[in-house]
Amino acid sequence: MKKHDILERIFVEKLIFWWKWLAKAPDWKKIIITWGVIPESIVNLRILKIKNSYIDAQVLDVVKKSPLEDKLPDHFQVYGGCKWLPIKYEKQLEIKEEQVREALYHIREFTENTNFHKIVASPEIYGYRNKVEFSFWKYISSKEQVHDDFRFWFHKQWEFDRIINCSYCVLADDEINEIFKEVDSFSRKSGLPTYDPFNHDWFWRHFVVRKAFYTWDIMIIFSVNTNYSGYSKIHKSDLEKFSAEISEKFKNIKSVYILWNTWKADIVSWDFRLVFWKETIREKLFDFEFEINPKSFFQTNSKWAEVLYSQVMNLIKKEKSLDVALDLYAWTWTIWIILSNLFKKVYSVELVKEASLDWERNAKHNNVSNIEFVNAKVEDFLNEFETDIRKETGLVDLLIIDPPRDWMHPDALPNIIKFNASQIIYVSCNPSTLARDLDFIVKNSGYEITDVIPVDMFPHTHHIETVVRLELKK
Ligand SMILES: C[S@@+](CC[C@H](N)C(=O)[O-])C[C@H]1O[C@@H](n2cnc3c(N)ncnc32)[C@H](O)[C@@H]1O
Repeated sequence: MKKHDILERIFVEKLIFWWKWLAKAPDWKKIIITWGVIPESIVNLRILKIKNSYIDAQVLDVVKKSPLEDKLPDHFQVYGGCKWLPIKYEKQLEIKEEQVREALYHIREFTENTNFHKIVASPEIYGYRNKVEFSFWKYISSKEQVHDDFRFWFHKQWEFDRIINCSYCVLADDEINEIFKEVDSFSRKSGLPTYDPFNHDWFWRHFVVRKAFYTWDIMIIFSVNTNYSGYSKIHKSDLEKFSAEISEKFKNIKSVYILWNTWKADIVSWDFRLVFWKETIREKLFDFEFEINPKSFFQTNSKWAEVLYSQVMNLIKKEKSLDVALDLYAWTWTIWIILSNLFKKVYSVELVKEASLDWERNAKHNNVSNIEFVNAKVEDFLNEFETDIRKETGLVDLLIIDPPRDWMHPDALPNIIKFNASQIIYVSCNPSTLARDLDFIVKNSGYEITDVIPVDMFPHTHHIETVVRLELKK
């Protein structure tokens, strides 16, 4: 066996961690499949790498569909992110719960005293995304004999030079889908071409819709290459006229932006110019109200964020008076706001400076004054806190950790355990890094894992959130 060889008719066993799937080669060597396959399918694979203990492979085609696949309703199709759509929702939950259990199973201390809760299911399984980003692209493929000058939808997962055309996204709500249709039709008729990422020229790049699910307010953003030489005053006024018309038709559109996106990288960048109505839209979490601007980070499923944070709140032990909490990896909001009611003082630590502007505005708007936003790296902050602020605050009652998906700085964990907070709540969106970090914590400190709660916020995708509580015992 060597790189690029084809392995035929391989049975896919299960999801093992984040987006990796497990199978076995004919010689029983482990195969790790990256992305995009339903368990119990039979597939042909191409070998990407051969290591001592496993083979890395990619799916070429599905030979036999998995028995877990359900027939989809007529207008449903699998695009970009919703790869699990054909799997029955109950089965999706089973797979996700099992994935978290397996990831944590090897931690010895975990099995004895831990309360492993049943997965919390999402109450809504369609139309839950409050932000959808569509991309424009020209698509030419001699292999597939396709020449399509105007594609407008999602990037194909892991293939950033390919866009999938489709007409209905089941993860977005109906209004977002309706708005998308109007923009699709307008942009095709506009006479302006889709952006060419190879020449860094031409016009249409992305279209973003954000919808607040409590107020129903909608923000739309056209991301375009304003350096395109064919973009004239007439085009500009057409786009503005269309923006006025579409907000007349969809009354919930409260904010329209054009993003002057002249960056070479294929991202939605930062130069947002307000075209119509308000600068921000409003969203609610519990009794708190938040302003969302085009740059704001925002939980993708806002209603369900309340459910996630209720799990966090329920896990906080409130036996004694709660004085100080540290909210690590805070971004602009959300966790600190629920802590503000429970603690006398909360420190919210976040690396990105821009987050503080949103944070300040939202804290003021909600009359919250017992929280301090600290713009710092968590790993550095913990050292400083230890020396300076701790003298004033004394013991810390709670650490909340909600790190990025892939990585926590290697200095962060030793500093976290050195801290001796009486309880830690770890919110994770990646069971494998969660397992690695918990392993480090329990082996190097007196913490025990008391509770593990898997929470499904993203039906039909492989994403799973887990909330874990640790208590300092020794
Ligand atoms: C999963 S998000 C946090 C979400 C947030 N807790 C909430 O309630 O919505 C992770 C955050 O960690 C921040 N971050 C990444 N590395 C960091 C570091 N070394 N120190 C502090 N913050 C960091 C990122 O900017 C990002 O905002």
